[in-house]
Amino acid sequence: MNRINERLIFLKLFLENPKEIGSITPSSRFLLDAMVSKIDFETAKCIVEYGPGTGSITRILLNKSRKDCNIVVFEKNKKLADYLKKRFSDRRLVVVNSNAESSQKYLERFKIKADYVVCSIPLALLDKKQKIKILATAKNILNDEGLYVSYLYLFSLNALKESKAYMKNLNCDFIFLNLPPAIVLSSKNIL
Ligand SMILES: C[S@@+](CC[C@H](N)C(=O)[O-])C[C@H]1O[C@@H](n2cnc3c(N)ncnc32)[C@H](O)[C@@H]1O
Repeated sequence: MNRINERLIFLKLFLENPKEIGSITPSSRFLLDAMVSKIDFETAKCIVEYGPGTGSITRILLNKSRKDCNIVVFEKNKKLADYLKKRFSDRRLVVVNSNAESSQKYLERFKIKADYVVCSIPLALLDKKQKIKILATAKNILNDEGLYVSYLYLFSLNALKESKAYMKNLNCDFIFLNLPPAIVLSSKNIL
């Protein structure tokens, strides 16, 4: 699948459900690099991704991760989850067609904790209750030293203020070479 087809899938699904998809196009290379730069691939044994979409971050996670790293992605949209299952055939990857909120039950079943949760769900568009549920679930599945990584578009400054309330020692990296410009957020202390 080339970049143009990926963009078309994204656009089509965005038009069907703008609130859930949250973006008309997959993230730029600059934003993806900034997200994955937070991950120590030498040590990571379990990476969970929320809202992988067409798999632009998933692809990098698979390319960079150790051979024994588990990568578990939770994609709510069935068409996208089916697409990801077809796109990647890698025994390290588990694609779960379910929402991020259900991830705790899956990780408990696999008896693992995550070193990283990488979240691309458009949290700024969700109501407070759902947002807190997703963050609380991420907290529960992360190990003690685990890192939560996410991004916001720069036009949602209120969301940035809100994120600061939910995450202590929040690290913010501004990515201007993305449309729209974005902020990568990372924290070991959520909620
Ligand atoms: C902005 S797209 C992410 C795209 C991709 N990760 C990227 O960076 O190009 C957001 C994705 O989150 C998914 N999503 C929204 N709410 C979700 C939830 N509660 N649990 C899991 N996935 C969700 C959407 O279906 C969509 O694929």
